[in-house]
Amino acid sequence: MEWRIVFGQVPAFAGMMFALSCLLFLSTSCSGPSHNEHSPLAEIEKHSNATIDYKVSSDPFTYDIEKVAVTNVENDTLFFTPNRTNHIVSFPCNNCHTQPLDKMVSNDPSGKKAHWDIHLNHATEEALTCITCHSSNNVEQLRLNNNKEVSFNKSQKVCAQCHSTQYNDWVGGAHGKKLGGWAPPRVSNTCVNCHSPHSPAFETRWPSRLNTVKIQELDPK
Ligand code: HEC
Ligand code: HEC
Ligand code: HEC
Ligand code: HEC
Repeated sequence: MEWRIVFGQVPAFAGMMFALSCLLFLSTSCSGPSHNEHSPLAEIEKHSNATIDYKVSSDPFTYDIEKVAVTNVENDTLFFTPNRTNHIVSFPCNNCHTQPLDKMVSNDPSGKKAHWDIHLNHATEEALTCITCHSSNNVEQLRLNNNKEVSFNKSQKVCAQCHSTQYNDWVGGAHGKKLGGWAPPRVSNTCVNCHSPHSPAFETRWPSRLNTVKIQELDPK
């Protein structure tokens, strides 16, 4: 309906040009065999199989980061993330967690929970509770849906189960951030360097400064 209204107002010549360019677009976009080898996918494939002879190294910028290897299913190292266990305040958990979770009781006379400061604001309670991600028998480990345990240093494996799109983007380098650069040894922030696992969404924020047009309006010189 809307299309017809718009078209009615366009002069015949422009309409014809539009139809022609549509035809042109269609004929170029269906690629014959000769175009195929230049298609974006073929290019990506070609580049991802190439061995790159790096002349530079990220080492001068990352040597002081304690690194943990991120591996693929064949156990090849893809890149590194910073160590987490050295930075988690209440680690080692087993200083207090000497028993499985169902046997643990807070000895605070007021009944205050041990982790009173942790509020889950991640999906819904039906989808996620503490023991979706934490192993209840050994809280010093994280837990996967198949009940396998994973170190806090590989917490991205927990996130990957439900956020495979972002995980794959992250492995490819399109989501997240490199520390030091793209040259090897490549070190990437892991999910929990940016997202709290307990409340992962970011607050909406104002830009850190007003835009330049607005500044000129306010203070013309
Ligand atoms: C200072 C002592 C202490 C440390 C350190 C500690 N916990 Fe706890 N944690 C407790 C106590 C006590 C409880 C059980 C009673 C409660 O909820 O207050 C508990 C309960 C929990 C629960 C269940 C909470 C619930 O509401 O069902 C989880 C999950 C948990 N801890 C994870 C961890 C993890 C992971 C670590 C390490 C990164 C850790 N804790 C370190 C004392 C501790
Ligand atoms: C979505 C998965 C997930 C859920 C759900 C979850 N956690 Fe965690 N939790 C993590 C991960 C991952 C870390 C490690 C974060 C890091 O490396 O900083 C962590 C860290 C912790 C720590 C250590 C934090 C610190 O700074 O000392 C405690 C304690 C903890 N969780 C308790 C809980 C409790 C209690 C619940 C339920 C109320 C809960 N977690 C629910 C994934 C989860
Ligand atoms: C068991 C599944 C599950 C696991 C494990 C899990 N998440 Fe989530 N996550 C969800 C669901 C469901 C939502 C809510 C999606 C929605 O509201 O659109 C969510 C929401 C989020 C959001 C907010 C999206 C938005 O913009 O509102 C982020 C960020 C996030 N998760 C990151 C993580 C990280 C980081 C981890 C690992 C520490 C993780 N998640 C582990 C299921 C999971
Ligand atoms: C360098 C910081 C950084 C790292 C590392 C990172 N993220 Fe994010 N993530 C962001 C930002 C910034 C957004 C956009 C937030 C917004 O729009 O409010 C985001 C958005 C998301 C969302 C919301 C949906 C979307 O795509 O906008 C999910 C889910 C998510 N990230 C999961 C993950 C997972 C899983 C990992 C690890 C594999 C990860 N992130 C690693 C910064 C990061």
